This record gives sequence, structure tokens and C-alpha cells, in this order.
Amino acid sequence: MSLDISTKTKRITRLINTSFKEANTQDLELILAIENRAYTFPWTKQKLTDSFNNPNISIRLILVNEKITGYLITLHSIDFIDILNICIDPKFQQQGLGGRLLDDFLKRIQKTEVKSVLLEVRVSNVSAIDFYKNYGFELLDTRKKYYSNLEDAKILRLQII
Ligand SMILES: CC(C)(COP(=O)(O)OP(=O)(O)OC[C@H]1O[C@@H](n2cnc3c(N)ncnc32)[C@H](O)[C@@H]1OP(=O)(O)O)[C@@H](O)C(=O)NCCC(=O)NCCS
Repeated sequence: MSLDISTKTKRITRLINTSFKEANTQDLELILAIENRAYTFPWTKQKLTDSFNNPNISIRLILVNEKITGYLITLHSIDFIDILNICIDPKFQQQGLGGRLLDDFLKRIQKTEVKSVLLEVRVSNVSAIDFYKNYGFELLDTRKKYYSNLEDAKILRLQII
């Protein structure tokens, strides 16, 4: 599939001063605070620390007026990337910021060898599944009792070429 990256960026955020940068360990506590606000089953501090220490993992931040409001955590292999976590601070959700973060990521991987993007999402996370489907992600598989609370996971894939 040829990827249409004509920006899906939404109305309100066009007017907001947003920027992107790679995270460093000094950002860990702010990321953890957003993680705890956004998820019923958040990542632990140890899992985030391990991500910072893994050279194959990238943590990209989205900032609004220079304040961290969300992040995208990706695991890079040779020709595919796993989205491990995408999260926007709850009070900033539904304003197009998740879309901007994903747009930024998809634009950057256009210049690489990456052929597909994979992710797992809880079957109950309907809004996130809708969000991904808007970007062309398709259902690849379902993993039964994938999560620690025994919830199933949907495996979604976006083909880049
Ligand atoms: C999933 C998530 C990252 C999406 O980020 P977001 O910033 O809320 O998403 P966006 O605002 O870019 O888009 C989502 C939907 O919000 C709505 N929306 C976006 N901007 C809007 C606006 N200005 N006014 C009204 N509705 C709007 C739209 O329905 C949009 O869907 P569309 O693309 O069909 O228009 C975010 O909801 C989140 O962090 N969820 C909790 C963590 C999570 O579950 N992550 C996924 C784990 S797999």
C-alpha cells in the first residue's frame, strides 16, 4: 500500500504550538506521570527505564508550548517497527495530537527501509483501534489472553510498501 501521509492533523492543533523531540532520561518522570494518568494498566518505571536503555527503542515526545503532552515508543528491527506505546495526556486527547505524533513518525520512516509497522492493542481499547484504523492499520491476528489480566490483544499492521 502506498501510504498517504497527507497530514490527518486536526483542526484545533493547527493553532497550537506543537513540536517533537527525542526523549532523554530526564524526561522519565514526566512520561511516567502521563502514563499513570492515561492507562488502567500503565507501564512501570522499570519498563520505561529498560526502554531508555535499549538502543533499538526510540521514545519520541510531542510537546505543546514546550511541555511534554505525549509520547511514541517504538522498537526498531531491520524492516519493521513495533509501536510499543503511544499515549497522549488525557486532558489533551481528542484534539489531534496523537495524529500529529503518528504523522511525524510515519513521515520519518518513509525515508528508511521499514516495510511495515506492527502493534498490539487491547480488544477493549476501541478508541485506539479506531484511531489506528483511520491510518490504514489492518487486523493481522488476535492473541488470546495476551495481557496480564488475560485480556486478548489485536495485532494490527500497517504496510508501508
Ligand atoms: C489513542 C491516542 C494516542 C489517540 O490520541 P488522540 O490525540 O486522542 O487522537 P486524535 O485526537 O489525533 O484522533 C482521535 C480522534 O479524536 C477525534 N478528534 C480529533 N481532533 C478532534 C477535535 N479537534 N475535535 C473533536 N474531535 C477530535 C476524532 O474522532 C479523531 O478521529 P478521526 O481521525 O477520525 O478524526 C490517545 O487517545 C491515548 O493516548 N489513549 C490512551 C493510551 C492508549 O490507549 N494508547 C494506545 C495503546 S495501543
